[in-house]
Amino acid sequence: MTATTKQSQSQTTVAAKKQIVIIASGGGSNAQVIIDACVNQKISGEVCKVISNIPGAGVLNRAEQAGIKGVCVDHTQFDTREAFDIALSAEIDTSHADVIVLAGFMRILSTQFVNKYLGKLLNIHPSLLPKYPGLNTHQRAIDAGDEEHGTSVHFVTPELDGGPVILQAKVPVFEDDTADELAQRVLVQEHDIYPLVVSWLCAERVKLAEYKAYLDDELLSEQGYASD
Ligand code: GAR
Repeated sequence: MTATTKQSQSQTTVAAKKQIVIIASGGGSNAQVIIDACVNQKISGEVCKVISNIPGAGVLNRAEQAGIKGVCVDHTQFDTREAFDIALSAEIDTSHADVIVLAGFMRILSTQFVNKYLGKLLNIHPSLLPKYPGLNTHQRAIDAGDEEHGTSVHFVTPELDGGPVILQAKVPVFEDDTADELAQRVLVQEHDIYPLVVSWLCAERVKLAEYKAYLDDELLSEQGYASD
């Protein structure tokens, strides 16, 4: 093998950093830990754009502070879910996104949108899925008398909060917990597990095939990796 061939082979084995687009509706603490993990090279990727559907959302401020392009696609300016999703998709595509991270994005996405990005689209949901898809998860866990609660990172599929789980983290529920206290306890865990899963997707260690999640080619269980 010539030196030139060796060099070109080693160049092709150095994976380019994945382009990550974050979509969020709120304060963006999960977005922040992902941005930080990219800067600290814990994730082999860079956040190239942050999109929010809420004008003035805290997450847009965080993007600006980090020197990342922030864009608002205000859902109230669209007549239909599909029209909003097309505008969102256009923003993603101009960034040539490899990985799309929903981080506290509080809108339901159309099947067409989800199918377009299948395998590239992650969500974090504040419950131990399949328990409590949808809203008010912390109060529902309290009302049910659950002793444990938590959060799940999963691939997004057309079923709302129904895509295969990649990783979960559990927290205890104490007797006198309020929903806000429980949400804070869950958030601390989210900040650990979400950057980790994004790093796996950027490294192509985690994959979606036929609506099932695999890590290092091993099929993950319903609770994802390391369920206990
Ligand atoms: C997080 O707890 C996330 O799990 C939840 O919103 C919060 C966003 O916090 N997501 C959902 O409820 C999605 N259905 P953040 O803005 O501080 O990252």
